[in-house]
Parts: sequence; C-alpha cells; structure tokens
Amino acid sequence: MSELNLVLLGPPGAGKGTQAERLVDDFGLPYYATGNILREAIAEGTELGRQAAPLVEQGKLVPDDLICGVIAERLDSGEADDGFLLDGFPRTIGQAEMLAGALESRGRSLTAALLIDAPDDEVIRRLSGRRQCVKAGHVYHVESDPPRNEGVCDQDGSRLIQRDDDKPETVRKRLAVYHEQTEPLVDWYAERGLLRRFDGTRTPEEVHSRIRATLATLALEAEI
Ligand code: AP5
Repeated sequence: MSELNLVLLGPPGAGKGTQAERLVDDFGLPYYATGNILREAIAEGTELGRQAAPLVEQGKLVPDDLICGVIAERLDSGEADDGFLLDGFPRTIGQAEMLAGALESRGRSLTAALLIDAPDDEVIRRLSGRRQCVKAGHVYHVESDPPRNEGVCDQDGSRLIQRDDDKPETVRKRLAVYHEQTEPLVDWYAERGLLRRFDGTRTPEEVHSRIRATLATLALEAEI
C-alpha cells in the first residue's frame, strides 16, 4: 500500500482516539496524539508539561509554536517516514499550514483529513462517562463500552481514571474552543480536496468500517 499520511479531526469526544486504536491495528501507522503527548509531559513535569498544564486544565489550546515543535520532532525522527496518524493536530489554521509546509519541504503530502463529527449534546454525554487506563490510555465508556471488571483495563490490567479536563465546565470550554478555532479547518481541508467526513454518532464498529473503506479507496486511487 502507498504511504498513508493522515490526520483525525473532530470535536472533543467524537471518537478520534477510539478510531485511532483500530486504525493503528489495521495499518501499523505511527500514532501521535498531541493530547496524550501533553498529558504525559504534564505527568512527567517536563518543560513542555509545565507550560501546557494551566492551559490544558482550562480547556484552552497551547500556543501553536509549542505544539508545532512537538510534531516537527516526530516528523524528523525517521519513524514516520512511511506514514503517520495524527490525532488532535492540527487544531488551528496556523498548525495546518505548518504541517502542509513541513510535509512539502520533505517531498510529501497529506493523504486525507478524516473528520469524525458529533453534536455537542452527544459529546457532553460521552465525555462525562469516559474512562481511560493510566498505562496506555485505552478508552472506555461507563455505559456504552464498559470494561469487563469495573475500574480495570481489559487490555493491560491497569487502573481506569477520569481525565481532569472531562469535568462538565471544562468540556463546555473545550467545545467552544473547538467551534471557534478548530472547526474552520473543515472548510480549509475541504477546499484542498482532502476532507473525508464520517458520522461519529454511529457505533464505533460502523465508523471504523467506513473509515477503512475510504482508506482502501484512497490507497487504490494512489496506485492507479
Ligand atoms: P485531546 O486529548 O486531543 O482531546 P480532544 O480533542 O478534546 O479529544 P478527546 O480525546 O476528548 O476525544 P476523542 O475524539 O478522542 O474521543 P474518544 O475516542 O476518547 O486534547 C486535550 C487538550 O490538549 C486540549 O484541550 C488542549 O488543551 C491540548 N491540545 C491537544 N492538542 C493540541 C494542539 N494541537 N494545539 C493546542 N493544544 C492542544 O471517545 C470519547 C468517549 O466516547 C469514550 O468514552 C468512548 O468510549 C466513547 N465513544 C467513542 N466513539 C463512540 C461511538 N461511535 N459511539 C458511542 N460512544 C463512543
């Protein structure tokens, strides 16, 4: 299959991380989720984490130059030379321009921006019941996707916790930030012929099979 350079786009709680787990299994792509990278940096107390912590806690975006540096490092590491899956980046037009420029300067381009969409009320319901494992960030929902044993990850046995920024008032702030700063990317990618839309209110299995079908078509087109 030809190189797959993908970004996942969509509001908080639309199911980007849920689908990313499945796509990484399908295609073996290196996966970079900027939210996970920032939460790890905060937990480790690095300089990046120190700068990001108050912003993430309030549901605001960290500055473009800070997060763009993180992604540029990953692109330069060599491990993303045959493709990648980005989740949570880009989140502003400035970040999208940085990514396009960084790829172009390496003779590469984005394959597609995969938009998983869901309405605000559904997102609020999902995030209030989300639980994640402390070891690898595997995602569950207390009602729609509970673990076999309460509070324990099915995949690695680690403890499940609620994210600090999943408190209702922070979720509302994150949604407002999404509509104001990230949603303009939907038109930006559509204008460039890169946008592929998926209805995030369908079941995780349905969303997954639709994304897989789209990626199979894109891969075939690239080989013609
Ligand atoms: P980040 O971690 O990226 O959070 P987010 O974009 O708000 O996305 P989420 O992880 O909340 O949701 P998701 O779409 O992955 O949903 P999930 O699959 O878990 O960012 C956090 C913070 O970091 C930001 O607020 C910002 O401060 C900072 N940051 C990160 N990147 C940045 C950047 N580029 N620039 C600046 N700042 C940045 O699913 C949610 C729940 O729903 C789960 O419980 C799941 O089980 C359930 N679910 C999933 N799919 C379905 C389905 N189809 N049906 C029913 N339930 C479902």
